[in-house]
Amino acid sequence: QKDGYKHFMLKEIFEQPKVIRDCLAGRIQKGRVVLTELDALDIPGRLTIVACGTSYHAGLWAKYLLESWARIPVQVEIASEFRYRDSVFLPDDLILTISQSGETADTLAAVRIAHEAGVPILGLCNVVGSSIARESDQVVYTQAGPEISVASTKAMCSQMVLLLLMTLSWGARKGTLPEEVKERCLEELAEMPTTLERDLPVIRGKARSLCQEYSDAKSFFFLGRGQNFPLALEGALKLKEISYIHAEGYASGEMKHGPIALIDPQFPTFAMALGDELLQKVASNLQEVQARGGRIIALVNPGAAPAVDESWVLPDVWGPLKSFLVLPAVQLFAYEMAVYLGKDVDQPRNLAKSVTVE
Ligand code: F6R
Repeated sequence: QKDGYKHFMLKEIFEQPKVIRDCLAGRIQKGRVVLTELDALDIPGRLTIVACGTSYHAGLWAKYLLESWARIPVQVEIASEFRYRDSVFLPDDLILTISQSGETADTLAAVRIAHEAGVPILGLCNVVGSSIARESDQVVYTQAGPEISVASTKAMCSQMVLLLLMTLSWGARKGTLPEEVKERCLEELAEMPTTLERDLPVIRGKARSLCQEYSDAKSFFFLGRGQNFPLALEGALKLKEISYIHAEGYASGEMKHGPIALIDPQFPTFAMALGDELLQKVASNLQEVQARGGRIIALVNPGAAPAVDESWVLPDVWGPLKSFLVLPAVQLFAYEMAVYLGKDVDQPRNLAKSVTVE
């Protein structure tokens, strides 16, 4: 079942090119996104995304796109918080729940609260016929195939693809998509599986080469700005859950508001410093870390990259699609670290695949 891979987690990370292809299959026609599931719903005046863990990070990632390209106000909520708050709903609200399993108790509770309040619910689920899928008004399936590894990997990739397609669909209906997005996004996305097939082995090799030197770290910061901030949160979550190294994901610009006090040569930073419009800001945040003796591994693109201890060069791809390379890089870093430290990658201690109790 593992198809020659040592662990399900590794197999599922390497399935991501196929996952992207499967997510796109039948959903692009004549250069346009076809998501009939959305047709039955009004374009939301406000979108509240509710999820847990990795799925929550996918929601945070999508907020940047939905606001910028579809001009929809978005709030992203942790389901366990949402369910016990007394939320205010507006007439043109839509609740979007994201769940790989479709069985996460807190997310399901959010669906029921929205239902009680008469707010329409769109589910983004992987498991067909799951509770969240059944109780939502409309479901978009991620079609990522079964995810066996407790640590979620390919599911997040599939959620990101579908959230991107939803943004394109709503943005096209509203007429808010920037020209460049209309011209390039789908074409570039269609190239992504080939790029990943070529680069995943290289990314894995780099992840493996970093393990020895950084395996004695007791803690890590993961830093990113913009859409890389949710990916920093995800990188930290993956490292914690399978290698048991403490890690915190932070928005780079927040470091100076307290956490930078922790930096010393034993507390390394994993940074996302890709060639986007925020690079200069990230570079100056990293200088502040270096000035305190902190070691830095940075994901960069060829060209204008900040000088750090370890530059991890990823191929340059268009705009937000960079995330589809950042994601496997942080996944493989956590994976290789856990393997190096001799941990049980597919069955991390204290964790279950689907959290069906509160
Ligand atoms: C992390 C992980 C969890 C899940 C979370 C939500 O690797 O697997 O954080 O993402 O329990 O699960 P779903 O998406 O099934 O609702």
